[in-house]
Amino acid sequence: MKITYYGHSCFGIQHKGFHFVIDPYISGNAICPICVDDIQDVTHVLVTHGHGDHFGDAIELARLHDALIICNYEIAHYVRPLYKNVRAMHVGGRSEFDFGRLKMTNATHGSDILDPVSHELICGGSACGFIIELSDYKVYHAGDTGVMMDMQLLKRENIDIAMVPIGGNFTMDIEDAILAVEFISPKIAIPMHYKTFDVIDVEPDDFKSGVKNCQVDIYELGETKEYY
Ligand code: NI
Ligand code: MN
Repeated sequence: MKITYYGHSCFGIQHKGFHFVIDPYISGNAICPICVDDIQDVTHVLVTHGHGDHFGDAIELARLHDALIICNYEIAHYVRPLYKNVRAMHVGGRSEFDFGRLKMTNATHGSDILDPVSHELICGGSACGFIIELSDYKVYHAGDTGVMMDMQLLKRENIDIAMVPIGGNFTMDIEDAILAVEFISPKIAIPMHYKTFDVIDVEPDDFKSGVKNCQVDIYELGETKEYY
C-alpha cells in the first residue's frame, strides 16, 4: 500500500488497483505541491465534511476519473445535480464495496458548504471520519475533529494507520491529538491539518515526540511512503 500526502488533510491511498483520495483540497491550498490533474487513476474520492479545505476539488477530481464520491447524505444531495457518481453514507454506517469495507465514523466538527455563488452556508450534515478496510490494511482518517471518548471504541478496530489532525484552533491540538492516539491505538499515526494557515502553524515533531504508544510517520508535502 502506498500513501501520498498532498498537504492539509489530503491523502492518496493506493492499494491493489484502487486509488482513494481523501479531502482533496488542492487548487485552493497555496502550499499544495500539485495540480488536480496531476493525480492519476483515481477510483474513489472521500469527503469528511463540507468545509472548503476538505470538500475542495472533490467534484472536479472525481469528474476527471469518473471516480465514486463517498460522503454524507447532505453533501451527496448537494453533489448529485453536479455529478452523478456519488454514494451517500452516514455516521456509524458501514458498507461493503469492491475494495473491502468502509465505515463512516463520528467526528466533532461542523460540515456546512459555502455556496460559491450566494456565499451563504448550505447544510452539509455532520462531519465524519472514515475507516477504510482494505484486504491487508485498515486505515482511519479522522477528518476534522476534537478528541472524544468515542475514539476509545476505535481500539477495537485494530487500526493499522491513523491520520489525525494536530493543528489546534479548528481541530484538536498536539496535546489532544496525543491523547487521541492513545485512545485509537493504531500501529502508525500520521499527523495532518497543520501549517496550512497561520492559526494551525504547529510542529509535527512535537506530536511525534509526545506519542509513546505507536510509530509516527511525518510526511513532507507531496511525499509518498510505501507500507508492506
Ligand atoms: Ni473543517
Ligand atoms: Mn479543516
